[in-house]
Amino acid sequence: MIKKILKIALIVIVVIFVGMQAFRPTLSNPPVDEAQTINAKTQMTPQVASILDRSCRDCHTNKTVWPWYTQIAPVSWWLANHVSDGRRDLNMSEWGKLPKDRQDRKLRQMCDEVQDGQMPLSSYLPMHPTAKLSDQDKKILCGWTDAERDRLNTPSK
Ligand code: HEC
Repeated sequence: MIKKILKIALIVIVVIFVGMQAFRPTLSNPPVDEAQTINAKTQMTPQVASILDRSCRDCHTNKTVWPWYTQIAPVSWWLANHVSDGRRDLNMSEWGKLPKDRQDRKLRQMCDEVQDGQMPLSSYLPMHPTAKLSDQDKKILCGWTDAERDRLNTPSK
């Protein structure tokens, strides 16, 4: 009896899991205009570029890397939401489209979020251990955002 119930339960779970796979979110990367990226539009340094690339790229650019497990529901639903929310708030591939005052605010937020430990999202770290930022990384990033904000607010520079 118990064995039969377990068998039916297992079949139901498998059917639900397979059924979920029919609902595929679009895990897409919109095209990138290299002239509009944060790297092109700022005085990017190699250190900051590498911090942004290893720690923020997957959620805040149009160059997300989608490993195999991101294709499987329900993980795919969850991640597609993260990336679309992340890009909506801050898209470093479309940096040039932001007016200067918004760039200034985003730069400030980038430093704040990283210093508060809010970014990168903690749920990202187990699968991406190299995204974790050291105190030194945070200092480098904030030093750079400060310098960029100075530059934005000093038109002649
Ligand atoms: C796993 C995905 C993920 C990673 C990695 C990530 N972010 Fe985010 N980020 C988000 C999401 C999602 C939001 C939308 C707001 C929220 O849900 O917290 C966001 C929001 C933001 C915002 C906007 C906050 C606001 O108040 O508008 C900034 C700035 C930001 N992230 C900076 C960064 C920086 C800098 C890094 C790298 C050091 C980073 N994020 C890494 C997912 C991510």
